[in-house]
Amino acid sequence: MLTLQSGPVNALGSALRQGILAAVEAAEADPAITAIVLIGGGRMFSAGADITEFGKPQTGIGLPDLLNRIEAASKPVVAAIHGNALGGGLETALACHYRVAVPSAKVGLPEVKLGILPGAGGTQRLPRVVGPRKALEVIVGGSPIGAKAAAAMGLIDELAPEDGLRAHAVAFAERVVAEGRPLLKIRDRDDKIAEGRENPGLFAAFRDENARKTRGFEAPEACIACIEAACRLPFDEGLAFERAEFQTLVSGTQSAAQRYVFFAERQTAKIPDVPDDTPARPIARVGVIGAGTMGGGISMNFLNAGIPVTIVETKREALDRGLKTIRTNYENTAKKGRLKPEDVETRMGLLTDTLEIEALAECDLIIEAVFEDMGIKKEIFSKLDTLAKPGAILASNTSYLDIDAIAAMTSRPADVIGMHFFSPANVMRLLEVVRGERTAKDVIATAMQIGRKIGKISVLVGVCHGFVGNRMLAQRQREANRLILEGVTPWDVDRVIYEFGLPMGPFTMSDLAGLDIGWSRETNRSESVRDLLCEQDRRGQKTGAGFYDYDAKRKATPSTVTEEIIATVAERQGVTRRDATDQEILERCLYPMVNEGAKILEEGKAIRASDIDIVWINGYGWPVYRGGPMFWADTIGLPKVLERLRAYQAEYGDDFAPSALLERLAVEGKGFKDL
Ligand code: 3HC
Repeated sequence: MLTLQSGPVNALGSALRQGILAAVEAAEADPAITAIVLIGGGRMFSAGADITEFGKPQTGIGLPDLLNRIEAASKPVVAAIHGNALGGGLETALACHYRVAVPSAKVGLPEVKLGILPGAGGTQRLPRVVGPRKALEVIVGGSPIGAKAAAAMGLIDELAPEDGLRAHAVAFAERVVAEGRPLLKIRDRDDKIAEGRENPGLFAAFRDENARKTRGFEAPEACIACIEAACRLPFDEGLAFERAEFQTLVSGTQSAAQRYVFFAERQTAKIPDVPDDTPARPIARVGVIGAGTMGGGISMNFLNAGIPVTIVETKREALDRGLKTIRTNYENTAKKGRLKPEDVETRMGLLTDTLEIEALAECDLIIEAVFEDMGIKKEIFSKLDTLAKPGAILASNTSYLDIDAIAAMTSRPADVIGMHFFSPANVMRLLEVVRGERTAKDVIATAMQIGRKIGKISVLVGVCHGFVGNRMLAQRQREANRLILEGVTPWDVDRVIYEFGLPMGPFTMSDLAGLDIGWSRETNRSESVRDLLCEQDRRGQKTGAGFYDYDAKRKATPSTVTEEIIATVAERQGVTRRDATDQEILERCLYPMVNEGAKILEEGKAIRASDIDIVWINGYGWPVYRGGPMFWADTIGLPKVLERLRAYQAEYGDDFAPSALLERLAVEGKGFKDL
C-alpha cells in the first residue's frame, strides 16, 4: 500500500514524485510484495501536478517519466481512488494497471481550465480507454465526472464500498495476483481509438460544435490536436507530440493568466483584518425586498442552496409577477433536464411571499433589492431598523449608492453591508460584498461565507460610486461614447471589444440592458445620442431597436438611423470627425479602466489587484485567458500603458490623468503583481 501524502490535495510536486518513484522501485525489489496499491492520504487521491511548479526548473523526475515507470512496473499497480483524481492525479491512475474507486469519487482532466493540456499522457491514454469522442468531451470540457459514470465508460474497473476502499483495493490486487491477470497497460490498447481513424470527421464536427465556447482560447485546440494524434500515431510518438504541445501552452501568456486566476479566485476569501476563524452569524432564513428581476434572481440563489426565503413586495400584482418568473425559470431548467421536476416544488416550497414588510422580523439576513433611489432605500432601512431582530444582517443590493449613508439611517450601522449581485443574479458568479465604514467584522465574514455557500465568488470592496466593477465600467462607457462622436461606428467599437474576448461590446450591452435605464422624457434634454435614441423609442432590444436594429429573432444589424443621430450630436457639439485604428479603440476603452483600477487600489477600495481581476472576469465576462484588466496591463508593461495614457491626456484632458500608483509602479519597473 503506497499512500500519497502531500499538502491538502496531494499535488504531485517534486518531493511526492521522488517519493513515489523510490517506493515503486523498493516494492519491485522486495520479493515479499506481490502487488502495489496506490491510494491518496487525506481528502483525495490527487488534484494533479503542483501548479505552483509550472514555469520553474524541474527538479527530480518529471511526471510523464514517472508515470511511464509505474506503467512499466513488473508487479500489478492498482489505483484506489476517493475524493478527486484530477489532472495528473487521473493520469497517474491511468498509468496504473487497474483502477478502483468509491462511488462518490470524481475523476477528470481539468487542465484546459488552466490553459494547458493533460501533459503526462492523459491525451494519449484516455482515448485508448473511452474512445476519442468521450475523450474530447472530458479533456476539452474539463469538467470532472462521477465514479459511477467513469465506471460505465470503462475508466474505472470496479466500484468499492464508500467506507471500505482500502480493504477493497487490497482484495482486488490479491485477486489480480491469484488469478494471474495480466499487467494491463493502456498504451497497448488500440480498439477504442480505431474510431478516430475510421471517422476523422468527428474532430471537425467537435470543433464546430464547440467553437463558441472555445473562442479565443488556445488550449482547447491543442487538446483536440493531441487526441487526433493519439488516434494517428504510435503511443510514444503521441506522447512526444503531447509533450511539445504542453510545453508551448505552459510557457504562453494564456496559461500564465489562467493559472493566476485559479489562485486569485482562492485569494478573494482572504481578508487581512477579518481572520478565517472569525465566527459567522447563523443564517437560517433570508428576506428579500423587491420581487423584480434582481430580487427574484437573488432569492433563487438561496432557494437553490436550501435556504428559506421570505420575499416582500408592495403590490400583489408585482409580487405575483415575480413569483411567476421564478417558477418559470425553474420549470425551464427542469425542461432542459438540469433540475428534477420534484425539485421545482421543493424550491418553491421554501419561498414565502408577503406584502407585509414586518414578516421580515424572523429573517437573519435581509437583502434590499428595490430600484436605485436613495430616498426609498433610506426609508426601507429605517423601517428595517425598527422591525429586524437583533443581530440580523441588513444588506443592500445597490450597485452604486453609498452604503454608509444607508447605514446611517439605522441605529445599527455595524449590521449593514452591501451585497451587490450581478444580473442575472441566479446565473452570474460574482458577488461584490461592500464593506461600510462601520460594518462589523463578523458581518463581513458572514456575507463572504454565505456568498460562497450559494455558489458565488465573493469579493470584498469598499464604498465608492459604482464600487469596483461599475466604477471601472463607467470609464469604458465614457470613452466608447466619445469615440462614436469622433466618427468610429458603434459596431466597430463593439467588434474590437468582442474580438479582444469580452462577450459583447458596450453598445450591444446597452441595447441588452435597455437604453432607458435612468432616462425619462421629462428630465433628459435631447443632448446625448442615448437621449435621441430613446426619444425615437429606440430603447434597446426590448423595443426592437436601440443602437442596432433587431429582427424578430433579436439578431442585430447596424442602423443608419443611429449613425445619423450620432452625426447630428457630433455636429452640435462641434466634435471633429476622424478615423481611429482598432488599437486606439482598444486602448481608449480599456486603459482608463486599468487606470481606474489603480486608483481603486490607491484608495484601498479593493484589497488586491487580483480581486479587481476576479470582479471583471466573473461580473463582466473579461476573457479569463487575459487574466483580468490588471494582469493584462502587467503583460503589456506598465510603462507602455503609462505612456499611452499620457498621450491621450494631452489630447483629451484629465480623464486620462495617470494615477500616482500606476506612475510609481511604471517608474520602478514593477507591475500590479508586485504589490
Ligand atoms: N497544485 C497546487 N496547489 C493546489 C492544487 C494543485 N494542483 N490544487 C489545489 N491546490 C491548493 C489550492 O490553491 C488551495 O491552496 P490554499 O489553501 O493555499 O488556498 C489548496 O490546495 C486547497 O484547494 P481548494 O481550496 O481548491 O480545495 P477544494 O477542496 O475546494 O477543491 C480541488 C479541491 C477540486 C481538487 C481543487 O483544488 C482543484 O480544482 N484543483 C486543481 C485541479 C487541477 O486543475 N488539476 C490539474 C493540475 S495541472 C496538471 O495536472 C498537469 C498535468 O497534466 C501534467
